[in-house]
Amino acid sequence: MHYIGPKVHIDLTQLVKNYHLLSNEVGNIPIMATVKANAYGHGSVEVSKALEKEGVRYLAVFTIEEGIELREAGVKSDILLYSKLNPHGIDGAIKHKLTLNISSFDDLEILKQHNVQEHTLKVHLKIDTGMTRLGVDHNHAEDFFRQARDIDNIEIEGLYSHFATADEGDLTYAKSQLDKFNAVLTIAEELDINPVLVHCSNSGAILNLPESRFNLIRTGMLLYGGFPSDEVPQNISIKPVMTFTAPVVEIRDVKAGTHISYGGVYTTKENTRIAVVQAGFADGVPRPWYVDGFVKFKDKEMKIAGRICMDQLMIDIGSNDIKYGDEVLIFGSNQHGTIPVNKIAKTIDSTSYVLVTAIGSRPKRIYIDTMLNDLKRH
Ligand SMILES: Cc1ncc(COP(=O)(O)O)c(C=O)c1O
Repeated sequence: MHYIGPKVHIDLTQLVKNYHLLSNEVGNIPIMATVKANAYGHGSVEVSKALEKEGVRYLAVFTIEEGIELREAGVKSDILLYSKLNPHGIDGAIKHKLTLNISSFDDLEILKQHNVQEHTLKVHLKIDTGMTRLGVDHNHAEDFFRQARDIDNIEIEGLYSHFATADEGDLTYAKSQLDKFNAVLTIAEELDINPVLVHCSNSGAILNLPESRFNLIRTGMLLYGGFPSDEVPQNISIKPVMTFTAPVVEIRDVKAGTHISYGGVYTTKENTRIAVVQAGFADGVPRPWYVDGFVKFKDKEMKIAGRICMDQLMIDIGSNDIKYGDEVLIFGSNQHGTIPVNKIAKTIDSTSYVLVTAIGSRPKRIYIDTMLNDLKRH
């Protein structure tokens, strides 16, 4: 059956390009690709496989279910779970060779009580240096390390922390976090804990605080082609991987003074034509965008007319030649132009992270591998 509805086009070739650009930028320090939340809406299996082919050996997801999904799809790389340890997930983690986040003294107790064979369970110890989310307070790192060292059924592969403000112009707080992390590393060394992986850089820190890269960087947003904020150096030529489009499914002539959509907050000023586009907030079109928002048809911007509905939105197309089935651009790029997702995010006081992860399960994801197509064509 021919699909009529919203589409998310994922350019895997661009993803791979972004990966290599980033890899060059950081002098080939290994990259832990953050593919949680369905790879920020891009499709975790496809993204992980594409990156694995390019040599990525470390992935991170949030939940154990996300990790198992990747394993069942045949992903072989190491996978770190960022979430709080789920005591009921340890056997699953062992079975699927997933690496656990150990971020509290309680987690150590759970490990002590769990009967795992020696060195079958890889863990990364997480220290809180100022994010105040998961992680043992840096002031208690020594005790935490001593207790972790005494558990002989785990391999402490990693030691890490997470920044709260690394994508901001004022790096004072991020630098104080880094100082705390460095102090914690000294403590670990003194206790003869020498994890092979030491990491604390997310996308913001990779660009703003190169001294925080250690021997692994954890990144999501840069791989997907977005900058975490406007307050980071933007001289890597990464480009967005995702483009969101939707079809026009109805066109109607309306008179001046006609109210459009819920609340009737948009009223036509003159006789015009309104097109119904089949994509709504349940698909990931950000609802507050209707106030100033537009879509693009070819190279023309068309105002969103009234509130975005759950499954549809309306646009004011005037006399433009648009017909049933024509696709409009919601964000991303096509041959006619671009609507940057971060432009929408800025306008509605949100972030690109929120917008790309809000893409629902209904839009059809279409994977484009231009390199592959090129190969096929030749
Ligand atoms: C613990 C952790 N590390 C790394 C990342 C990657 O962040 P970014 O997409 O900004 O690179 C995230 C994402 O939120 C995270 O939670």
